[in-house]
Amino acid sequence: MASTQAKKTKTPPRMPYLDFLGELHTRLRPRTYLEIGVRNGDSLARSRPQSRSVGIDPEFLVKAPLRGTVSLERTTSDDYFARPDATDWLGGEIELAFIDGMHLFEFALRDFINVEKHCTWSSVIVFDDMFPRTVDEAARDRHTSAWTGDVFHMQDVLRTYRPDLTVLVADTHPTGLLLVTGLDPSSTVLDAAYDEIVARYVKDDPQDVPDDVLRRVGALDPVKLLRSPLWGCLHRGHLPFHPRDKGLEEITEALERPDDYRRRRRALRERVQREARGIARRAKVRAPAKRPG
Ligand SMILES: C[S@@+](CC[C@H](N)C(=O)[O-])C[C@H]1O[C@@H](n2cnc3c(N)ncnc32)[C@H](O)[C@@H]1O
Repeated sequence: MASTQAKKTKTPPRMPYLDFLGELHTRLRPRTYLEIGVRNGDSLARSRPQSRSVGIDPEFLVKAPLRGTVSLERTTSDDYFARPDATDWLGGEIELAFIDGMHLFEFALRDFINVEKHCTWSSVIVFDDMFPRTVDEAARDRHTSAWTGDVFHMQDVLRTYRPDLTVLVADTHPTGLLLVTGLDPSSTVLDAAYDEIVARYVKDDPQDVPDDVLRRVGALDPVKLLRSPLWGCLHRGHLPFHPRDKGLEEITEALERPDDYRRRRRALRERVQREARGIARRAKVRAPAKRPG
């Protein structure tokens, strides 16, 4: 007798955001990492031993074992970036950043504006807490143990005011991540529109969280996202003489036509190897023969 009961399909658990961050470090191999909001150090502990990392938090209490060269700054992100020598210690641009400090929209917006100024086009800025699970969790006035606040607005703001950026959302556990690349450290768009944006987005509780946000519409499968050739493209973007306009074309190709991108990269690699073999062969022919004895 055929069962009338529909077969229950088990949805696999979502990838934890810390695992995703760890994989991102592995793929991007950033020389420098900046984190806003450290708390116990669980996310900072995902940076690679080869990276130079800075963690900013007025109240950190690090328990996780940290790796590599790490500077812990007991201050707010606003005060940190107010210093004229803010990122000097890193010794170069920020290649990867994680914004997970104060969960109020205007703080996250300022953090993005400040961090982007110290990036290159191929840097990646990640935000936590893009998908509150309830309206209560999204409240500006915290009254739940897990709290995203209203930072979910960042997705809409970046897509609206900065269409030049590449904005991706990952469906991680518990509350999703927002990843931004194709950055422009010279952009003043958000700075100039700051008051207008805050007036438009900051609202009293209860927050009006769009249904699309609660249902995570447009969120990408983290496992598939990590397999993208985008990360290799961004890693190579840190090599010298790699301008942003060319980089943006590569980002688009890596995301929209990944097979074409991989084929083109493979052909380029093979051509370089062929040329290197040719140079080595010619050098050998030209080398003076050794005299016997
Ligand atoms: C959600 S916790 C960070 C968790 C950590 N990133 C992790 O995943 O393990 C948020 C942290 O942001 C810190 N914080 C609050 N306001 C801040 C600010 N203005 N600047 C920097 N950090 C801030 C808090 O002290 C708290 O430790």
